[in-house]
Amino acid sequence: MGSILRIAIQTKGRLNEDSMSLLTDTGIKFVASSRRLISAAKNFPLETLFLRDDDIPQCVSDGVADIGIVGKNEVMEQKQQLEIIKHLGFSKCRLSLAIPKDIGYSGLEWFTGKKIATSYPRILKDYLMENNIEADIHFIAGSVEIAPGIGLADAIFDIVSSGSTLVSNRLKEVQTIVNSEAVLVATPSISKEKQTILDELIFRIEAVEKGKGKKYILLNAPNDKLDQIIKVLPGMTSPTIMPLAKSGWSSLHSVINESEFWEVIGNLKRNGAEGILVLPIEKMIL
Ligand code: PRP
Ligand code: ZN
Repeated sequence: MGSILRIAIQTKGRLNEDSMSLLTDTGIKFVASSRRLISAAKNFPLETLFLRDDDIPQCVSDGVADIGIVGKNEVMEQKQQLEIIKHLGFSKCRLSLAIPKDIGYSGLEWFTGKKIATSYPRILKDYLMENNIEADIHFIAGSVEIAPGIGLADAIFDIVSSGSTLVSNRLKEVQTIVNSEAVLVATPSISKEKQTILDELIFRIEAVEKGKGKKYILLNAPNDKLDQIIKVLPGMTSPTIMPLAKSGWSSLHSVINESEFWEVIGNLKRNGAEGILVLPIEKMIL
């Protein structure tokens, strides 16, 4: 039997949904609604192992899973032996210091002698040391944001994404220490057969990423306007031109960036393009 690559994924939470849609976007199919710990893909040598995000770095480092998708914050905190293969660009957040919102803040010195609650003691300890601040770090595994309100700490150091958790706990962010996003990590000792599967998976992920933010555009144009129209199309490759049954007209196909979309469409219309169709691109292999 051939090798199967095992990927650790968060069971539920902010990373789970985006991690699963990344895999399904690459065309990998899973048995629907399986609530098992391990679930094998139907059409790719991959199986998912569902874990708490905090357990993923250790699991990948030990080789229990070959690869994993986890927040960079957990990787930095745990300092396990593993390799970050790819930044995935989703689940972006930051780790910040926050204090009760009505308290005046003078600068980092404020934290001297204060008690700070956090689930990320190592990142915080390193940061305070670099900045010569002596504070008391108090580890809490979850619900860190309630600590100041119940008198357990003066401040917190925690994940901030939308900022709404801080607002609802009457806290304000005063210093960002690191930025985080989902990363693909791998065990340092991956076998040759599994590396081959991983290479194919990365190839597919990159094809999906390239297609994001790009649109496929088709339009009809009179032949005497083609030169002008091609000039306003900022295509990545030269457009495909095909004659239409209607004489003197052609169909033109190209790829455009979503960010330039409305500007390009306006220019195309002004230059005589008709019957413009814009389609999403699922994958792109260059
Ligand atoms: C984090 C963090 C906050 C919240 C911040 O928890 O501990 O509670 O997200 O997000 P917001 O700025 O959008 O309100 P998370 O949901 O990641 O759970 P965990 O800390 O238990 O892993
Ligand atoms: Zn967590």
